Amino acid sequence: MGVGTVVSVDPQLVESCIMTLAQHGAYGETGVWRPTYSPAWVAAQDMIASWCRDIGMDVRQDAVGSVWGKFAGSDSGKSIVSGSHIDSQCPGGRYDGALGVIAAYIAMRTLVEQHGLPRRTLEIVSLCEEESSRYPTSNYWGSRAITGGIAPEDPERVAGLDGTTIADGMREVGLDPSRVHAARRDDLDCFIELHIEQGPLLEQAGLPVGIVTGITGPREYWVTVTGRSDHAGARPTDLRRDPMAGAAEIITGVIDTAHRMGRPAVTTVGRITADPNLGPAVPEQVAFTVDARHPDLEQRERLFTRHEVLMHQVAIRRDLEISWNITWDHQPEPCDAELVALLEESAAKQGVPHMLIPSGAGHDAQQMAKVARIAMIFVRSKDGRSHTPAEFTSVEDATAGIEVLSAALHRLAY
Ligand code: GLV
Ligand code: MN
Ligand code: MN
Repeated sequence: MGVGTVVSVDPQLVESCIMTLAQHGAYGETGVWRPTYSPAWVAAQDMIASWCRDIGMDVRQDAVGSVWGKFAGSDSGKSIVSGSHIDSQCPGGRYDGALGVIAAYIAMRTLVEQHGLPRRTLEIVSLCEEESSRYPTSNYWGSRAITGGIAPEDPERVAGLDGTTIADGMREVGLDPSRVHAARRDDLDCFIELHIEQGPLLEQAGLPVGIVTGITGPREYWVTVTGRSDHAGARPTDLRRDPMAGAAEIITGVIDTAHRMGRPAVTTVGRITADPNLGPAVPEQVAFTVDARHPDLEQRERLFTRHEVLMHQVAIRRDLEISWNITWDHQPEPCDAELVALLEESAAKQGVPHMLIPSGAGHDAQQMAKVARIAMIFVRSKDGRSHTPAEFTSVEDATAGIEVLSAALHRLAY
């Protein structure tokens, strides 16, 4: 342990946890494909549970399948929680979410080894379906269950990309969808989530760690544009109602809108389908996502309004029908000022160079803010890459972030 530092984390333990967890759902050389309630996800959750059991934590799985491990404190009071999610994009990388669960496990294990059992209760949580990669409208299933944000009819209503419901997925792994309400917690003091940055700002600043000031407000639209299917050669262009041409104009337009508004507005079209999906035919219908984000409430509304006006205008001019559902909509969420200050102090104490940074990604912490004070630690992402098997964070940077987390948990719980 360095002079004045609170805790010293073993980089070899960090590396071995990352590599071992990544074996469940391994995809290609460096990727992970681990949708919620899949066999790979179940095996990964079982592994987290056994890690926690082996260090003496009380372990349980809640009503939606999130794994919790607890070191009960000698004092009563609300729990101090850290964790993240282990479901992945399909395909995703080894770090998004997984590193936050590993970080909480290593921080709590190291604290107990170096300082004994805590005074305040410490809990780790490994949440389910943060990514919505299997069930696009699940909207932070694990953390939303904790805040009581899931209605009783939701499990049968939330559909997966394969047409099954999230209730089917739950039953397949032995969970009872009628008991979702039992995951609710009202005894949490704070939730501190370590996560990879997923963008380039820390790398550009040459720093391993960021202390997050707040989380952006994402909204996702699923847009459907309908025209008429016709022969690709025989029907003159000026006599078509071509939804692909309309979609192309909308897609370019919404992305340009965010570009013109400037940082931190962002708009992304990441998924698109055509029906029919044939080379020599104008499609009947084109559907695509529009993911738009801004951390400022007013600017966020402005961005969404501009997108919606543009979508209507293009559809009218091209004689197309257009409709959309909003599949994701989360308010921006500031991190708790006291916890931000505590994390800055902890980084300074551990000698970890750091800066304040906003989060452009959505996170479980955003939901947890409904029931607890929240804060986040980011660690540097190589080339700012994420949501791809190419995502990478060095063991040194991950270890630095986990030391900051450990020092903060020590201040709060000892
Ligand atoms: C979360 O994974 C996000 O896309 O922000
Ligand atoms: Mn994540
Ligand atoms: Mn993600």
